[in-house]
Amino acid sequence: MVKESGASRKEKILVTAGLPYANGPIHLGHLVEYIQADIFVRFLRLSGKDVIYVCGDDTHGTPIELAAAKEKIAPEELIKRYYDEHTADFASFFVNFDVYHSTNSPENRFYSDLFFNRLNEKGLIQQRLVELTYCENDKRYLPDRYVKGKCPKCGAEDQYGDQCEKCNATYQPVELIEPRCAICGLAPVRKQSLHYFFKLSSFSQQLQEWLDGNKGIQSDVRHFVEGWIKSGLQDWDISRDGPYFGFKIPGELNKYYYVWLDAPIGYIAATEKYCKDKLGKTALEAYWQNPDARIIHFIGKDIIYFHLLFWPAMLAAAGFSLPSDIAVHGHLTVNGEKMSKSRGNFLTAKDYLAVSGHEPEFLRFYYASHLTKSVSDINLDFNDFKEKTNNDLVNNLANFVHRTLVFLNNNFDSKLEPLGTDEKLFLQQLQPKYDSIAGHYLEYSFKDAVRELLELSSIGNRYFQENQPWQLIKTDKKKCHRVVSVAAQIVRDLMLLAFPILPKYSEKILRLFGYENFEHLSFADLGRFPSAKKLYPARIVFAPIEETIALAPVFPAVLKVGVIGEIAEHPDADKLYVLKVDIGKGKPKVIQLVAGLRPYYKKDELLGKKVVVVSNLKHAKLRGYESQGMLLAADDGSRVTVVFPQGSEPGDLVFPEGSDPEKIAGNRKQLAIDEFYRLNLRVKDEKVMYGAKPLKTSKEIIPVDAADDAVVR
Ligand code: 2FM
Ligand code: ZN
Repeated sequence: MVKESGASRKEKILVTAGLPYANGPIHLGHLVEYIQADIFVRFLRLSGKDVIYVCGDDTHGTPIELAAAKEKIAPEELIKRYYDEHTADFASFFVNFDVYHSTNSPENRFYSDLFFNRLNEKGLIQQRLVELTYCENDKRYLPDRYVKGKCPKCGAEDQYGDQCEKCNATYQPVELIEPRCAICGLAPVRKQSLHYFFKLSSFSQQLQEWLDGNKGIQSDVRHFVEGWIKSGLQDWDISRDGPYFGFKIPGELNKYYYVWLDAPIGYIAATEKYCKDKLGKTALEAYWQNPDARIIHFIGKDIIYFHLLFWPAMLAAAGFSLPSDIAVHGHLTVNGEKMSKSRGNFLTAKDYLAVSGHEPEFLRFYYASHLTKSVSDINLDFNDFKEKTNNDLVNNLANFVHRTLVFLNNNFDSKLEPLGTDEKLFLQQLQPKYDSIAGHYLEYSFKDAVRELLELSSIGNRYFQENQPWQLIKTDKKKCHRVVSVAAQIVRDLMLLAFPILPKYSEKILRLFGYENFEHLSFADLGRFPSAKKLYPARIVFAPIEETIALAPVFPAVLKVGVIGEIAEHPDADKLYVLKVDIGKGKPKVIQLVAGLRPYYKKDELLGKKVVVVSNLKHAKLRGYESQGMLLAADDGSRVTVVFPQGSEPGDLVFPEGSDPEKIAGNRKQLAIDEFYRLNLRVKDEKVMYGAKPLKTSKEIIPVDAADDAVVR
């Protein structure tokens, strides 16, 4: 199915996805690429290819250095934390790298120096004096994003040092009008520094030839790159002054490789790690200088410049293999808008799973249904998501699988029946469809692959429906058994073909057919009669999505109005009361609280009063007495004032205005005390505020007799 290269030795394929920065979480936008490349790699492997998928964290540069400084930790500690987070996030979406490495590794230092030295020996690196913005206060040079000011072309305010978001002009940080340091806000000065430049300008012809030889590169991408080449390539500044987190340039005291120099070299470093551990070879022997190997990069359209100009030029200069394909995808929009925290549509991989409660494979399926070989953006629309998942995945594909296997299990003890000529012919007709699906995977047209997978399961469903095995079993049991066996073979084939997109689900189903080794799963089995194994399929199902994803995080505290029914001094703590509070609606539900209110209230000032209680707090023991929650009081530093609702009833839910009380009330999660403190409830205008929203019940806005900014806890 995959065209053979003609080489007698088996071709090796290396697939990479862009290295995510180690200063932020993996979000839904990132996942498009990692899932896309993962699908492709799984497909190649099923086609019998010798392929590996390599990636790692991109750990260097100013933002990471500053983020670590802000947390008062070493950058190494920060990147370690993100490494652990990132690898866990990828695993949770079944993104299966053969190696996940880091640019802050000995392998990467080795190859970065190797590149630098080779390029230098060839006279491709020059030193030049550059004029930069420098902050005397922060004692550092300010790169593009760390200096803001007026655009030198159109005068728009508040633009970054590299590009104007209003008029799109690009310029140098020193050209900004009225510049300010983005860290401290003071005006920077200009300062000279000796920097290293890579002579990209010498590579125009070589890059054009490489492009001409790579027919697979998308036409939009080709046009961009050819345009850049035609308009003349500029030499590239590959150094940065300290303080910086990165690799020091050999022989320098305070100069480092620019992060974008050593980031793509990280692909080689990750390959090296894999090759050393698994093959006992170097990355160069196995892949980067091996004429029988192919290199394929998956990237987003924002980093075309780096991967189609700088990177191939560097590889050519160092005498390494150039990528044979670069697959560029568009960005993700969520509900039609660019994902951003301020729009409230920003979702990390982890939050998405927590908020939606969905199977990770729903997202893989949705992305696959939208991925084509085009650089246009992909929109994750939550209504469309629900519809596609329920109609296509749950009700078509998974339903066919389920009904077939359950029927086979219930009526034929999971045994398959040898087929007659007609049935074999029927199955043979499906072969072109199988080839076509494989062809779509190979062309990165996963959308078309999904379309045909669904057609295949529709064919299966129709075959099942038309043959009415539930009737046939009464009249011709043998024929019925053959019909169900035909359907079972389609199920098995469908699961092989869908495996790149739905690896966990397919695996579970394929296990029922006796498959055990998923490393060596192969399309060679397509169209072959499956082996008869005992099937226990009943529990392998996808539940449909009931609700669309609600983006705003649900207020995590379940606050209830309660009434104080009993109060006593704690026998061994002179500040504490032990209270019995009824938070039941209609029928009593009494909980015990221990509260430090004795310095502020006499017993009879509290007895019989209505209060607000955090009812889902993790229970704690205070001096031997269990506290099953906490009552809200405002603390302005000198005075503590209990929050006393007026017009509400015991059991009433207290929630931030504008949020959905049902969702809050349905929360079963126990809250730790510091999680509660992080909500940062405060007094404003004698109301208890959660951000800009006052707390209320369905009957009143909760009043509090305390000064503005008092903390409520
Ligand atoms: O744009 C980014 O997120 C970069 N961290 C991608 C680097 S890809 C490769 F060059 F390392
Ligand atoms: Zn500053």
